[in-house]
Amino acid sequence: MKKIAFFPGDGIGPEISAAARQVLETVAELAQMPLQIEEGLVGGAAVDAHGDPLPEPSLALAMAADAVLLGAVGGPKWDALPPAQRPEQGLLRLRKGLDLYANLRPAQIFPQLLAASPLRPELVQDVDILVVRELTGDIYFGQPRGIEVVEGKRRGYNTMVYDEDEIRRIAHVAFRAAQGRRRRLCSVDKANVLETTRLWREVVNEVARDYPDVTLEHMYVDNAAMQLIRNPAQFDVLLTGNMFGDILSDEASQLTGSIGMLASASLGEGRGMYEPIHGSAPDIAGQDKANPLATILSVAMLLRHSLDQEAWAVRIEKAVHAVLDQGLRTADIATGDSKIVGTRAMGEAVVAALRAGGQA
Ligand code: IPM
Ligand code: MN
Repeated sequence: MKKIAFFPGDGIGPEISAAARQVLETVAELAQMPLQIEEGLVGGAAVDAHGDPLPEPSLALAMAADAVLLGAVGGPKWDALPPAQRPEQGLLRLRKGLDLYANLRPAQIFPQLLAASPLRPELVQDVDILVVRELTGDIYFGQPRGIEVVEGKRRGYNTMVYDEDEIRRIAHVAFRAAQGRRRRLCSVDKANVLETTRLWREVVNEVARDYPDVTLEHMYVDNAAMQLIRNPAQFDVLLTGNMFGDILSDEASQLTGSIGMLASASLGEGRGMYEPIHGSAPDIAGQDKANPLATILSVAMLLRHSLDQEAWAVRIEKAVHAVLDQGLRTADIATGDSKIVGTRAMGEAVVAALRAGGQA
C-alpha cells in the first residue's frame, strides 16, 4: 500500500488539488493500485488552524508518505505576518525537511496551445526544456540573514552560499537527466561577479568528466534570461541554483502559454514532492476558474518518479492532450474561439479521457 500525503494549501490550491486527487484516485482504481491518501495542513491554512505554516503532524505525515502532492500556498491574508509564520515557510521547510534538493520543472510546448504563447509560434514550437533547479540551498537558506538597524539606518541582508557537495549532487541529477534526453546541459551562473557561482562552475566542470556523452555549456544568468526569449529551442536541460531557477522557470513557463500548465517534481534520496510551479492565485480563488492541469501533470510526475508507474504517467499526459484536442480551455489558456471551462469541468474531462484511454 503506497501512502500519499496530500496538502491542498491556500487560494486555488484546494480546487486544483481536488481535481488532481480525482485523477490519482482514478488511476489507482483503473490500475488496481492500493493507495492511501491522507490530507494535511500546510501554508496559510495551517497558520489559521495552528499558528504555524508547517505544524509537526504535517511534517510527520510527509515523512511517513511515499510521495507528497501539494496544491499551492500563500495569500494576502498572511502577508503581514513575521517571516517565520508566512505560508511560504511551510513549503520551504517541507523541501528542506525532506531534503528535496532536486527540483525538476519541465517546460514543454503543447502544440494545441501554441497560440497562447506570447512568443511567435515558430520560436516556441520546438521548445522542450527541463529546468533542474537546486532547491535546498543558496540565498533561500543561507545564514546570516535579516533586517537590522545599523547606525540608525535599516539594513537587509541575505547570504548566497553553496558548498561543493550541494553543487555536485544537483549537477549529477542534471547530467543524468540530460543523458535521458538530447544530451545537452546548460549550467547557469553569474561567475563573472559572484564567487558562489564561480565555485558552481568549477564543480559542474569536475562532474562533467563523468559524463563525456553530454555536451556542457555555461551561461551567465542574464544572458540565459535573454536567450530563453530570443531562441528558447536551443535549450535541453538547464541547471540552476535555487534563486536563478525560481526566476528562470517562471520565465520558461510563459513560453508554453501559461504557468498553469507547468508541473514539478522535487526529489531527494527518498520520497518526492509534486506541485504545480504556479502560486495560489488568491484573485481567482474559490471561483472554479483555475487551471488544474499543472497539478494533474504533477500527479503524472508522482507516478513516474515515486511510484515507478511510467505507463500510467504517460496515460495522464495523453489524457491532458486529449482534453486540449477536444478544445477545452480554462481561462488562462483560452484564445479566440476556445470553449472555456472551469476547474471542475476540466478535471472531470481529464478523468473521462483517462477512463476512455484503455489499459496502460
Ligand atoms: C516556487 C515558489 C516558491 C519559491 C515560493 C512560494 C516560496 O515561487 O516554487 O517557485 O520561491 O521557491
Ligand atoms: Mn517561483
